Amino acid sequence: MSPDETARRAFIQAHTVISTAPLVPDLRLHLATEVTPLWQATEDLLRKTGVPPPFWAFAWPGSQALARYVLDHPDTVRGRAVLDFASGSGLAGLAAARAGAASVTCADIDPMASEAVALNAALNGLGDRVTAVTRDLLAGAGQGAAWDVILAGDVCYEQPMADAVTRFLTAHARTGALVLLADPGRAYVTREGTDPVARFAVPTTLELEDRAVRETTILRLRPSCPPDPGGA
Ligand SMILES: C[S@@+](CC[C@H](N)C(=O)[O-])C[C@H]1O[C@@H](n2cnc3c(N)ncnc32)[C@H](O)[C@@H]1O
Repeated sequence: MSPDETARRAFIQAHTVISTAPLVPDLRLHLATEVTPLWQATEDLLRKTGVPPPFWAFAWPGSQALARYVLDHPDTVRGRAVLDFASGSGLAGLAAARAGAASVTCADIDPMASEAVALNAALNGLGDRVTAVTRDLLAGAGQGAAWDVILAGDVCYEQPMADAVTRFLTAHARTGALVLLADPGRAYVTREGTDPVARFAVPTTLELEDRAVRETTILRLRPSCPPDPGGA
């Protein structure tokens, strides 16, 4: 492990508590108790300002819903190669591994997320089943990789990202992957070309969201021609 990776892991362990997400008591995670102090500490660690929020330290409604779904429907992932796209803490990917996926890749652009996933996987005895990578798959990294199932939790919270994510997920749905997108009601989700497969009322905190519960829908992208914003 590089000195940077060691420092990130020590930081995560020092600034989080081991806890569980309300909908997924089955898996333990390193979770933050407050947003702002952790964000400030992250900027101090990286000696930078304007860094992205510490998404990795929270179980967002999207990953909670996906994790619950795959744990309750293990056939969805059993024996399959699974990508947890924009994984944050990796909760959805960990659930897939627990449910019997053949392999799980958790990908996120934030290197802190990769270390959090590695720690969270080890915490649940899934360290040998889950690979964490720091990669921007929207920028073309990982082209040609074949995943049977893609789990994407809460990835449409900003317009440009939502468009790129929809293009990426659409391309994989067209080539036969099962693509499940969990949407907690964000503004930029395209529901056209999708079918709802499950709904969850996910408890959240007022510090992260503007309400105590987020209604979260799991959408399955249809393999046939979902919309293609901006052209692929
Ligand atoms: C709201 S969080 C959701 C995390 C997790 N899926 C969940 O539901 O708990 C959004 C995540 O998207 C990641 N992200 C943003 N742009 C990305 C990109 N181009 N490729 C991969 N991950 C990205 C962020 O770093 C962050 O971890």
